[in-house]
Amino acid sequence: MLNSNTPWLVPEIMDVVRLFDCEDRDFTHYFYFERDNYINCIEYGGEVTEYHYAQPTADDIEFKRYAKRSAKLAFYELLHSITGRSFPYGALTGIRPTKLAYMETEEGRDFKDLFFRMHVSPENIDFVGRVIKTQRPYYAKKGGQELFISLPFCPTKCSYCSFITAPISSTKKYVDAYISCVERELASLKPILSNVNSIYIGGGTPFCIEEEGLERIYAAVKALNLPPCEYTVEAGRPDTFNLAKLELSKKYGVTRICVNPQSFSDITLQKIGRKHTAAQTFEAYAMAKEYGFDINIDLIAGLEGETPSGFENSLKTAISLNPANITVHTLSLKAGAKLKETTRRLHIEGIGEMIKISRQLLTQAGYEPYYMYRQKYQAGGHENCGWAKPGRECAYNIGVMEEISHNIAVGANAISKKLFVNEGRIERLASPKDIPTYIAKCDKIISDRLALFGQQG
Ligand SMILES: C[S@@+](CC[C@H](N)C(=O)[O-])C[C@H]1O[C@@H](n2cnc3c(N)ncnc32)[C@H](O)[C@@H]1O
Ligand code: SF4
Repeated sequence: MLNSNTPWLVPEIMDVVRLFDCEDRDFTHYFYFERDNYINCIEYGGEVTEYHYAQPTADDIEFKRYAKRSAKLAFYELLHSITGRSFPYGALTGIRPTKLAYMETEEGRDFKDLFFRMHVSPENIDFVGRVIKTQRPYYAKKGGQELFISLPFCPTKCSYCSFITAPISSTKKYVDAYISCVERELASLKPILSNVNSIYIGGGTPFCIEEEGLERIYAAVKALNLPPCEYTVEAGRPDTFNLAKLELSKKYGVTRICVNPQSFSDITLQKIGRKHTAAQTFEAYAMAKEYGFDINIDLIAGLEGETPSGFENSLKTAISLNPANITVHTLSLKAGAKLKETTRRLHIEGIGEMIKISRQLLTQAGYEPYYMYRQKYQAGGHENCGWAKPGRECAYNIGVMEEISHNIAVGANAISKKLFVNEGRIERLASPKDIPTYIAKCDKIISDRLALFGQQG
């Protein structure tokens, strides 16, 4: 239980308390500010410790930012001293460490100083520096729009996934009406699409949709007459691939396809409810390669029962296929996932070693890290990171993660983001997650988006 004299700091502090798995303990927190000093007094187990964070402050926005930072740091240092544990990103709990690093750089400071002060490990300070270096050409060209189309259908639900999808067996009845709404949404975008960097059809599992439906979506995109650009389909699960869907994708200008193994162990795939085999992944990969697509591969470190050597086998297999991109996710515990029903907190033996192995092997194989993000309940406090062969990065991933371009997103559970660059803010527009509700509200979604993107940014 946490008692604080400053309620608006509680959510920030709780992120740190949860990281250490210490929600059941009692803390009393007293915060005050005095002569550019942020002071956090914490009473725990009958003892009071006082933490000072000295920081000159220009305005109210900075005051809030530094107050939050100081409180997180104070709790991190206290809990580190009590438990002896430390985490790879220290007291940084946000999902985008690179965004914070950019912000520091733009304000004329070296991000490494702040990261060091927040106890980020030296390896991760270097790692964030590497990501920023790979992103440099993309960041320099920031602006434009990314077009996202959400197809929230999956063959079955994987145990770790919180995605709103239900198995296609129970959502099939909505597919036709859903595609009609996506067609209407896409047609409505004509007046607001002006400078599209990339198109991304995401899931769910877009290849869960049969050829006829898929072609309707591709045709609706084609009708927008966009100039050629990176065009990705997160086809996804290998058990949904066939030549006809790939042929269609090629015909409509798709350039990149995701073939996602998650693991190459059939035992693991069974355990996580993927309902496909490693052999099906090889087949799907070979088919997609035949058509000359760039290929993205997703792996997850920390899956049920996997050891570092098991993960290493999957990673080596992925590397041997030589895809343009390999994204290594660290297992995270998500509300709404089956895994959450049986697991309160993830304690994955060897997770740090898995991430270390991924960095070593991918680097040796000529991949560079190019986009990264973190999630709240991620095993060991690690990250998800996309690695690409030089020049083969998926630009959409960078645009979205760094929020350096507008995102125009259609379909259920899609979140459009309009950047107001001069005001330093982002406005979001989220569509309903539930498919029938999305279908019912399609007209309103269309008019709201036209209003948002009609404004000067
Ligand atoms: C939105 S999912 C869509 C991918 C596609 N449906 C598939 O499963 O092949 C994108 C990726 O997020 C990752 N992912 C989803 N849930 C995760 C979790 N709880 N922990 C770690 N990674 C996760 C998986 O690697 C997955 O491929
Ligand atoms: S991981 Fe992919 S296939 Fe599995 S439930 Fe989530 S979105 Fe669907």
